[in-house]
Amino acid sequence: MIRLNENYLKLQASYLFSEIAKRVNTYQAEHPDQKIIRLGIGDVTRALPNACIEAFHKAVDEMANDTTFRGYGPEQGYAFLREKVAEHDYRARNAEISPDEIFISDGAKCDTGNFQELFALDVRIAVPDPVYPVYVDTNVMAGRTAAWKDGRYEGLVYLESTAANDYVPELPKEKVDLIYLCFPNNPTGRTITKAQLRPWVEYARENKALILYDAAYVEFIRDDSLPQSIYEIDGAQEVAVEFRSFSKTAGFTGTRCAYTVVPKRCKIYDSQGNAHALHPFWDRRHSTKFNGVSYPVQRAAEAAYSPEGKQQVRELSDYYLKNAALIRETISKIGFSCVGGDHAPYVWVKTNTDSWQFFDVLLQRAGVVCTPGAGFGKCGEGYVRFSAFNSHDNVAKALQQVTEALKNL
Ligand code: MLT
Repeated sequence: MIRLNENYLKLQASYLFSEIAKRVNTYQAEHPDQKIIRLGIGDVTRALPNACIEAFHKAVDEMANDTTFRGYGPEQGYAFLREKVAEHDYRARNAEISPDEIFISDGAKCDTGNFQELFALDVRIAVPDPVYPVYVDTNVMAGRTAAWKDGRYEGLVYLESTAANDYVPELPKEKVDLIYLCFPNNPTGRTITKAQLRPWVEYARENKALILYDAAYVEFIRDDSLPQSIYEIDGAQEVAVEFRSFSKTAGFTGTRCAYTVVPKRCKIYDSQGNAHALHPFWDRRHSTKFNGVSYPVQRAAEAAYSPEGKQQVRELSDYYLKNAALIRETISKIGFSCVGGDHAPYVWVKTNTDSWQFFDVLLQRAGVVCTPGAGFGKCGEGYVRFSAFNSHDNVAKALQQVTEALKNL
């Protein structure tokens, strides 16, 4: 008899963004003439930067010729891309990361979801609340939690990120072994300063813990004093893994390219307390279960680091930040308090009502999709997240419709 991994029975209904898509599709089928504007999932809408497209085309042409054709590439990624990442994203910020510490992949979602496979089932895990649901759901699937109770999974330590602490959680009171952090934050759009990040690194060092640092949104940071990588904090190389993506920076959500940094100095411990380097284990996992990102995609990603590519990537993020500023301004003007959107593509809005109810009101009265905060955790109840990933015209129109809809509530 084929038996189920019963941890799947603990999961809440469907994955957050699938649930939203389902509701929106049902509504659209019932109202075929209504034009719906999507400010829900953080999916980019603008074309790839020209520099990336040119490199992409060129690489596709190479695949059309026997002499330049490529079969399997290195699972960890081509050296040409790993070198660019190390140079531009790390060494340029005085973070000592070498190319062979970088693992190219097809997405930060997959990497943040898969990385937990390396840890024992009884490690104590701290996750922020609200949080990108992938961190929690993948640990539930693996069996690291007990049942869902009162809006939370038993067995996890929740790090509350609320207005009371300005959305930067406090260190856990109890001892934990694994900590998920994400800055600029999804969903709140909040950033962290170096002074706020340093105690997390110190905590991890003192407790032999590991930080999984999701930095998928660093391209949106406009204040140079804010850390763009956890490795800008001394000692982080020994206790942190970092995830980054070309999705939100260079518009690769449909093209798929990301990377994970596992410094060679980073440690993990066996049940006897013996230290091991973490790097070979991720390397082993990656080369066993993954066959590399396609050559043309890696060439396109590499082009994001050329002088033209960098400028075009900056223009893309500027474009979305302009939307975020408009969302923040309009939402505040109509009397809702909100945070984020200055160094992040998300604006976190206090709804003063149930999140899903607010979502339904916006969908039905304004034809606008947002993301209910409750889908990110208990502390997200009473909030919604607006994504800035859409055209200026659509965002302006959506905000006009939202203003009208909320006025008539
Ligand atoms: C989001 O909307 O939170 C993200 O787009 C989801 C993702 O990157 O997988």
